[in-house]
Amino acid sequence: MYAITRPESMARIDTPELAQAYIDEMIPALQEQIGDKKVLLALSGGVDSSVVAALLIKAVGQQLVCVHVNHGLLRKGEPEQVIEVFRGQMNANLIYVDAVDRFLDKLAGVTDPEQKRKIIGGEFIDVFAEEARKLDGIQFLAQGTIWPDILESEAGIKAHHNAGGLPEDLAFELVEPVRILFKDEVRMVGKALGLPDNMVYRQPFPGPGLGVRCPGAITRDRLEAVRESDAILREEFEKAGLNGKVWQYFTVVPDFRSTGIKNGKRTFDWLCIIRAINTVDVVEVTPEYLPQELIQRLVERITAEVPGINRVLYDYTPKPPATVEYE
Ligand code: XMP
Repeated sequence: MYAITRPESMARIDTPELAQAYIDEMIPALQEQIGDKKVLLALSGGVDSSVVAALLIKAVGQQLVCVHVNHGLLRKGEPEQVIEVFRGQMNANLIYVDAVDRFLDKLAGVTDPEQKRKIIGGEFIDVFAEEARKLDGIQFLAQGTIWPDILESEAGIKAHHNAGGLPEDLAFELVEPVRILFKDEVRMVGKALGLPDNMVYRQPFPGPGLGVRCPGAITRDRLEAVRESDAILREEFEKAGLNGKVWQYFTVVPDFRSTGIKNGKRTFDWLCIIRAINTVDVVEVTPEYLPQELIQRLVERITAEVPGINRVLYDYTPKPPATVEYE
């Protein structure tokens, strides 16, 4: 059984060699813990769950069952990438659940931010539990719990996202292969496992996804405008060499219209807000001051390419007084 508490003497995993040594130690430990039983994993495509999946695929192969729930609030290309990397390249046993309509139907007309989060979180558990019940012989549940989650839950700052929430009939034993690692160490291990850079060095992405970037009641067309503008922003940041340098960046499309003009005709469309921030601890956040040419290019592309957008704004507000997300 591997350590469930980070030993004080443990060296920081900050080289590919140390990451490989961690993998070499973890694989037999996972094989011993799991034996010939099956393990279930909710694979979002985020760094932690992706690294857990890659480790378990190496350790127990087809005994790992990954469930990827597409709740319709993921960024452009994310579900496709999860399928391509894990099913295509790693030959994982991956169940893809298209729950888009189910989530968006439940969210229709809901304007309260906390209510939206509750629906997204609750529905996620329901969908995952339904998939788990269809499977036979699952004994373990793998989770991407990391060391800061443990420290934060011990300090009473937040409850970490563990099995808490799954119904009682699904009381699996936990497998947490990155539990004693800090985030940068998880990335190191992910890189050593051969995961693509854009998965390993991903910026943070909230659990409720694009749902919190579509303030007010989520509609499919406005959600699509968030997704498309976010994709353009990410593309332009990459071209400008800013990805990996700016801590987090995204777009928001509020439920608000303004007058504009296109091809000589009046429009009455949404506006798109760009947010790009830097931080050390997310308690305090400063805006990234983007080069003028980049802002100009973003304005041109987003208004030209994203249906329903006729205006682009840039948010220069630090935290506090604003939070990073809009809901
Ligand atoms: P705020 O808006 O609180 O965001 O200043 C701080 C950081 O946390 C992320 N965030 C979330 N992450 N589930 C998550 O996993 C959530 O519900 C959630 N809400 C905000 C946000 O993207 C930012 O990086």
